[in-house]
Amino acid sequence: MSAVPPSSFFVLPRSKKLLGVAGFLGLALVLFYPFASSDSAAQGGVVTTAHGGVPARAALARPNEPLLPIQPNIDLNPAKVALGRQLFHDPRLSRDNSVSCASCHDLSRGGMDRRVRSLGVGQREGVINAPTVLNAALNFRQFWDGRSPSLEDQVAGPIHNPLEMDSSWAEVIAKLRQDARLESQFIALYKAPPAPALVQDAIAEFERSLLTPSRMDRWLTGDDAALSERELAGYALFKRHGCTACHQGANVGGNLFQRFGVMQDYFAGKPAISAADLGRYNVTGREEDRHVFKVPSLRNVARTAPYFHDGSAATLEEAVSQMGRFQLGVELPKQDVQLIVAFLHALSGEVPSP
Ligand code: HEC
Ligand code: HEC
Repeated sequence: MSAVPPSSFFVLPRSKKLLGVAGFLGLALVLFYPFASSDSAAQGGVVTTAHGGVPARAALARPNEPLLPIQPNIDLNPAKVALGRQLFHDPRLSRDNSVSCASCHDLSRGGMDRRVRSLGVGQREGVINAPTVLNAALNFRQFWDGRSPSLEDQVAGPIHNPLEMDSSWAEVIAKLRQDARLESQFIALYKAPPAPALVQDAIAEFERSLLTPSRMDRWLTGDDAALSERELAGYALFKRHGCTACHQGANVGGNLFQRFGVMQDYFAGKPAISAADLGRYNVTGREEDRHVFKVPSLRNVARTAPYFHDGSAATLEEAVSQMGRFQLGVELPKQDVQLIVAFLHALSGEVPSP
């Protein structure tokens, strides 16, 4: 598999009657399963890909599960990871030296800021909820609308965004080059002084180290005792209700575009539709991409409230029950919601420390 098919391929029609949940699931398996490992080479029998994290299905302890365990990233350059970590926490990447990547992607807070919308320089409020950087390396695209193709490319976004770091490469590089110690670190590692591509390279390498294997990964690799009975019951419901049609693969999401409101119009009840609500439409300009978003990863989701691109769901219970309503056309019984939430907690992993 080389290229990723156009997003419309993945987008389900918003018709209640067209697809019952069973048909929906069948369709989902046929359509989505081959893409479960995104655009990496994982289906080709490769054990780890260059950018890591995805095992070959044949080698799995539980090969028929729609979720895949994270593989440790064995080919990272530790010196780049260390430099990238430093830059990720460096406020000089912002115009007035007040905001670092970590301001909005706090690694001790699930890799985000727990706000509905983030605050950038001068306390300016952004337009969309900050996703976690944890396991972002496993996403097939970056950003809610998938407008960025790689972690390297993504770095330039917040640096230039007036509501985030409000700076420019020229400003950032000039500041970094005044720091003799930092400059010698770059020269030792890259044989060159700080430059945009090198800052991008180091930060992306650091982000590739932010994989968080969880108890679910232990279960997926064969440890029956890793999940409690409640969590296993929740996982069974997660599959039975069809959540895995969209949240699947190594990142439990992050490998498909889907409309928010497949079975019922989520946006109909909103007082106003913002540009951010248009999702992938902003990238492609195609009508069928209106309100289409990258399906978010559910790894560490118990730590990343509030939920959805608009931060509208304050609790995980609320998010899960809205997913039932808008994506699957079912009002999930309270007990199912609670069990699914119990399962989602098993997706919280260890954040690697330096
Ligand atoms: C002011 C807050 C803020 C700052 C500073 C910030 N981000 Fe973000 N980050 C966000 C928001 C909000 C989004 C979602 C934007 C969107 O999808 O349109 C995001 C998205 C991302 C994503 C995509 C994740 C995904 O699942 O799609 C990555 C990776 C990321 N940021 C890394 C970084 C890095 C690296 C830096 C520093 C160079 C940084 N961010 C600085 C708020 C911030
Ligand atoms: C048809 C695809 C699809 C199905 C089925 C689906 N989801 Fe989602 N899910 C999405 C999309 C797309 C989003 C992002 C919506 C947004 O914010 O715009 C999302 C968001 C979420 C979020 C919020 C994540 C975050 O970080 O904000 C949770 C939690 C979630 N889904 C859980 C579930 C559960 C549990 C099920 C099954 C009951 C489910 N989903 C079924 C596509 C789907």
